[in-house]
This record gives sequence, C-alpha cells and structure tokens, in this order.
Amino acid sequence: MPEEKKKNADHLIDLDAMRLEEIQSILETARIIKKNPGYYSDSCHGKILATLFYEPSTRTQMSFQAAMMRLGGRVIGFGDPGNSSVSKGESLKDTIRVVSNYADIIALRHPMEGAAKAASMFSKCPVINAGDGGHLHPTQTLTDLATLHEVKGRLSGLKVGLCGDLKNGRTVHSLIKTLCREPNNSFVLISTKALTVPAYIKNVLEQNNCETIESDSLIDHIGELDVLYMTRIQKERFDSEVEYRRQKGVFVLDAEKLRHAKSELRVLHPLPRLDEIDYEADDDPRTVYFEQTEYGMYVRMALILHMLDGFKTQMIRPESNSMKNCGNPDCVTNTEPYLPRLFTQENMNICDYCDHETK
Ligand code: CP
Repeated sequence: MPEEKKKNADHLIDLDAMRLEEIQSILETARIIKKNPGYYSDSCHGKILATLFYEPSTRTQMSFQAAMMRLGGRVIGFGDPGNSSVSKGESLKDTIRVVSNYADIIALRHPMEGAAKAASMFSKCPVINAGDGGHLHPTQTLTDLATLHEVKGRLSGLKVGLCGDLKNGRTVHSLIKTLCREPNNSFVLISTKALTVPAYIKNVLEQNNCETIESDSLIDHIGELDVLYMTRIQKERFDSEVEYRRQKGVFVLDAEKLRHAKSELRVLHPLPRLDEIDYEADDDPRTVYFEQTEYGMYVRMALILHMLDGFKTQMIRPESNSMKNCGNPDCVTNTEPYLPRLFTQENMNICDYCDHETK
C-alpha cells in the first residue's frame, strides 16, 4: 500500500497498516518514556489490558504486562489456554467477544496464522497481534527497530543478515517487511534450503527492489554485515522431530565467527535462544539481545498509549469474497470455520488472513 494511503491503525495486526511516521512516533515516545518513566506512571489509570496467550511466551507476555502496570493500568488474561474455557472448546470469536467487554485493549498470541486479524473482526477494543503462528510478530519488530535506532543510530542504509529459521520465524517476516520500507537497506538471508523465507516475503523484497542475497553460509557473509539477526529453529512448527533434528545446530554464532565481523556489527536475536548463539558470544559488546528485551517493554508502553488514544469503536466484519478455502493448513480459517473466506483484492489467490497463495 502506498505510504499516503495508509491510515492510523485501530488494531495492530501487521505494521504494513501503519505509516512510517506513525511507527517513528511510537519509537520516539518509547525513547521519551525510557528517559522519564515517572511521567507516564498514571497514564493508563483505570484501563485494563487482557493478555490472551494461546502459545507460551516469556518476553512478549511479561513485557506487555509490565508495560501496562508501569502505565498505571491493570492486567487480566491467561498464559495457558488450558486454564480458560478455550479448553472446553470455546471459539476464538466467542472468547474475543467476551474479553473485549472486560478489557480496554487485548494482546493476543495464537498458534494459527491470521488469528489476530480474525480476532479483530469480533473485538470492541483494539487487538494487538503478539504473534500469529509462523506468520507475523509486529511488536517484536517495534522492539527490533527501537534497538536498531539505539545501537546503530538509523533504520536505513543497513546491510542486514538474517540467519536461521527464516521460513517459520514470524519475527523475521515482520522485520523484513518493515525494513524494506526504509531506504537503502539490503538483506542477506542465511538459511538451509528447507527454511528460506516464504513466497509472500520474497514478493515484498522484490516489490521494494531490495538488494537481497540468499546463502547457506554465515561465515561467508558475516564480515560484510551491519546487523546480524539470529533466530531459533522453531521446533514447534515442524511436522516431525526427525525434520527438526535435520535443521537444528546448522548455524551457530560463536566467538570464532565474530572474529570475522566488523567492529560496528550489532547482533540481535528475538530470543529465546537455544544453541544458535554460543554463550561465550554474550560477552562480546557487539551482541545486544538482552538490551533488546528492555526496549521491548518501552515500545509496548508507547504502543498501548498510542492505540488507546486512537481507537474508534468500529467492528469491521468483511463479507466473504470467495467460495474457496485457504490451502495453508496453519491458517486460522481451518480451526475457526465460521470465519468469512477472504482473499486480497489484488490477487484472489492470496489469503487475507495468512498471506499464503492458494492455486
Ligand atoms: N521474542 C519473543 O516473542 O519471545 P517470547 O516467545 O518469549 O514472547
């Protein structure tokens, strides 16, 4: 979508719906909050955040909770759907209709791709996508952008290497989609052939004319990078343990590899980390993944303020525009069958929930 057509988003499903100026304004607010946390300690007095986490989380869930508490608001929700009526078979639609009567804003993590978009269609309050399966993770991208601004001083003109599970890594997809919109960024996508980025991310790179190299070697490229974004192999997205074991341990960043990198390189990781970064690398000043987690709380504070300020009560429930089903087995339309079948206007083969192309 051209920048001038983007509007202030009522929900945050994909950062694509936000203008770059809106993203920059959230990052600027986060910087101000970090310097003056006391100024904001009562800003959300009387407001309630619901954290609905259908998948495990440490950083996203707790940083959202800490963010709302530091703004003077309160938090309800669940971190395990087994402790909620989801375990009795309640649909996503019904859960959201109920919780949006109780809360002023909802952060939703769900294993199915497109779940946050689906939830937004039934919510009376803003819904934030806190990760939908292997699809997108926009608030991690805000965290990553805040970190890059702090440690590199800019979001443009960067050579960014992304390494690991680029197929299932939702943080990778959201980050590439957003950095593509900034001028003069180029990408080195480092993965095995089985774990390259999905077609919808390749399309974004092409449409934005971003210089992109695909490689299966970290050591061949580490010396040319300004930023290295390491990622975990996403075990929970694999069909079998055997397939996961084939991919595990292929890329490991250690002190030896860092010897080949520029002194200005900065290494980010959304965490959790398994074996893809050796613990000895933590002492290298170029690795900033623990600082990154702190920025995550400040950007979520800024995001909550921004979204509560801008929300207009309007439920948009689009009519189905197709009879066919999405072919992606991980799409939310498979588990929530009442959802209207939606395909993008630009290409009626691309599912509007999960971005996968169905022939
Ligand atoms: N980065 C991230 O999403 O971490 P969690 O899964 O712990 O929330």
